[in-house]
Amino acid sequence: MSKHIALGIDIGGSGIKGAPVNLKTGELTEDRYRIPTPDPSTPDAVARTVAQVIARFEPSQKVPVGVTFPGVVQDGIVKTAANVDDKWIGTDLRQIIRDYAGHDVVVLNDADAAGYGEYKYGAAHEQDGVVLLTTLGTGVGSALIVDGTLVRNTEFGHVEIDGAIAEEFAAESARDRHGLSMEEWTVHLQRYYSEMEKLLWPDLIIVGGGISKHWEEFLPKLALRAPIVPAELFNQAGIVGAAAHAYNVHKRQADAAKAAEKKAKKKKSK
Ligand code: BGC
Repeated sequence: MSKHIALGIDIGGSGIKGAPVNLKTGELTEDRYRIPTPDPSTPDAVARTVAQVIARFEPSQKVPVGVTFPGVVQDGIVKTAANVDDKWIGTDLRQIIRDYAGHDVVVLNDADAAGYGEYKYGAAHEQDGVVLLTTLGTGVGSALIVDGTLVRNTEFGHVEIDGAIAEEFAAESARDRHGLSMEEWTVHLQRYYSEMEKLLWPDLIIVGGGISKHWEEFLPKLALRAPIVPAELFNQAGIVGAAAHAYNVHKRQADAAKAAEKKAKKKKSK
């Protein structure tokens, strides 16, 4: 794999998908490889599957690999698991994948990856200011990007509005669960996004998740201050964003190592 390629892996409820990404363009350089998410989706079973997806592309140790997870991930450790098995809480995701794959990985929240992907290559392409991405799926995921910096693990799907947790009425799954028509669900979305605007004053709102393909049926009906637009990378946003984020982390680490080396040399020569 060439210098500007990183591998992105997206752990979803139904599939674990991955592909190498050209970081200059945000395009996949090979077809996506997908394995159904194991059931039960225990940490071991999922990590083994992630390792299989990584192995498919035979990345050298130098290739950055980014992996998404649908919950809060801090320093490689899973902290919440709203829509996945509770066994995940406390799992060292980075370590367990490294054990199975024999390759270092960078792990991050799925919506954070999608938001970063949209910022780098999609609907918010390098837009300054406050960009809010939400994914409407089984849960509601969020990513906040401020002047190009990803504020990680924001979890705005869990804000409480009028005594109800947002993802319980605004997620796409809530529409099915409560048997809502598109019009009825749009009323819930209006409530959700108005609250988000009140709190964050975003310059741009992006809506991702599978339902964003049908954006014409609900986005034009929302009355908001900020423009609200559909995601552009669709089901590749997680893969692309995870790859781009992993690449950045590697670059920062390499730059820091170089700076430390330079400092040490300077000290020696004194
Ligand atoms: C989780 C988030 C996740 C979102 C989408 C929510 O329930 O708390 O961490 O990003 O679902 O998967």
